Amino acid sequence: MNPTGFASDRRARQRQRPPAPLPGERELGRLEILLRLRRNPLTIWRRRHFREPIIAGDGIFGYGVVLSDPAAIRHVLVDNAANYRKDDLQRSILAPGLGEGLLTAEGEAWKRARRTLAPLFTPRAVAALATRMLGPAAAAAERLSRRRPGRIVDIAQEMTRVTFDILAETMFSNAIAGGAPAFAKALTAYFGTQGRIDPLDILGAPAWLPRLGRWMARPSIAFFEAQVEVIIAARRALRAHVSAAGQPDLLDALLEARDPATGSGLSEAEIGANIITFIGAGHETTANALTWALYLLSEAPATRQAVEAEIDAVSDLAAAALSGSGLALTRAVIEEAMRLYPPVPSLSRTALADDDVGGRCFIPRGALVVISPYLLHRHETLWREPDRFRPERFLPGARESIERYAYLPFGAGPRICIGQQFAMVEAMIVLATLLRAFRFEHAGETPMPVQQITLRPDQGMPMHVRPRHVAPRFDTSDLS
Ligand code: HEM
Repeated sequence: MNPTGFASDRRARQRQRPPAPLPGERELGRLEILLRLRRNPLTIWRRRHFREPIIAGDGIFGYGVVLSDPAAIRHVLVDNAANYRKDDLQRSILAPGLGEGLLTAEGEAWKRARRTLAPLFTPRAVAALATRMLGPAAAAAERLSRRRPGRIVDIAQEMTRVTFDILAETMFSNAIAGGAPAFAKALTAYFGTQGRIDPLDILGAPAWLPRLGRWMARPSIAFFEAQVEVIIAARRALRAHVSAAGQPDLLDALLEARDPATGSGLSEAEIGANIITFIGAGHETTANALTWALYLLSEAPATRQAVEAEIDAVSDLAAAALSGSGLALTRAVIEEAMRLYPPVPSLSRTALADDDVGGRCFIPRGALVVISPYLLHRHETLWREPDRFRPERFLPGARESIERYAYLPFGAGPRICIGQQFAMVEAMIVLATLLRAFRFEHAGETPMPVQQITLRPDQGMPMHVRPRHVAPRFDTSDLS
């Protein structure tokens, strides 16, 4: 390997097709599907799933439909969204940890919570939080600069830490009782145990039957709940004694939130569940987007150099991330990373009543509808060179030709990610802060994406982190 580590044949091949399971042609038996769902659900997709827009039939979950047709997706997620609710499997994985938070609530409870929480994440609200993201991003750069030169760093872990610190700062002004590391550790344990699909859930076993993962996740859930109670009580006490306790954060906004329709606030349990939900939904997701973006850039030196040039020319990172001007390529890299490695690789719904999807297909009552951003984002009928890293497709001028319902990292319709703007601004600030200071080079085995609620690299993301004072090598081989 040459000293820069970029020019080996293996790397050149990876530039063509960043790592992902190779879908086979052979249909899988039920037991094999079950095992694959447990180990890595990405591996159940066959070649035909990447070619055909709609695949329906009896499967392991009963009758199911896999939709990769943008018009049909729009029908299910937007036009007739009222006919679909989150399916039981998804709820059984998420609900024990996230309770009746926004992500797992349904029906009237969800509507009320969404109305009440929407003002917390408007572009204006996110703008007020953006400068608070700079500190934790700079602290991450500082941590990396203190590492011994030549030492390999697990960037997946670092990204999890920085996105957690940003949530802790914007949400609680960093007042996590017992310390952020313990909270983050419990969260990691939760995703590593609860996050795997349990065969009992696939078989539709009753909820009272104990699942190993859920049982193992219990201490982390209990830990979160206790922590969150302490945080809320401390803030209430502070607000009772101090009139204007510094700059308001998301916790202040949660405590003050009122349903615009009724004027009522959230219950204590709802506040707690939503704090845990925001951390659960808004932490690993953004961390994974950043981890894959850094990996893809480490394999694409010309793009990385172009991003570095863009970032070096920006003086106010928070303002540029908010306006989008000046960081177009940085943004495009994040969007392309989420195309190839969508942090939420699969969305699923259950049909409440029979539905005719605009003559495209018929979805009977009770059917499971799977919309997989992973599949959709690599679908041969929707993307040119779907397996290649080509951030240019998201640059202004090209981006407009991407079909709205062909790209769904944040979902769509009434249940679209409430934290979308927050996440994009955060990801741009962190990526720009780190790339200003360092050059990241992947070290070790080729990382494979594995679906465990979110899409993570199977062995973490070991990387060399080098200060950027070395004159860059000019390499255009990854640009088309
Ligand atoms: C790159 C980062 C993120 C990605 C890719 C992402 C992705 C998603 C997706 C796909 C959904 C829709 C799920 C479905 O329809 O079944 C969703 C919902 C949600 N996300 Fe995010 N998310 C990210 C960051 C965040 C952040 C930062 C927060 C909060 C701080 C957040 C909070 C939520 C909540 C509360 C919901 C549920 C919304 C509802 O059902 O009304 N997410 N997210």
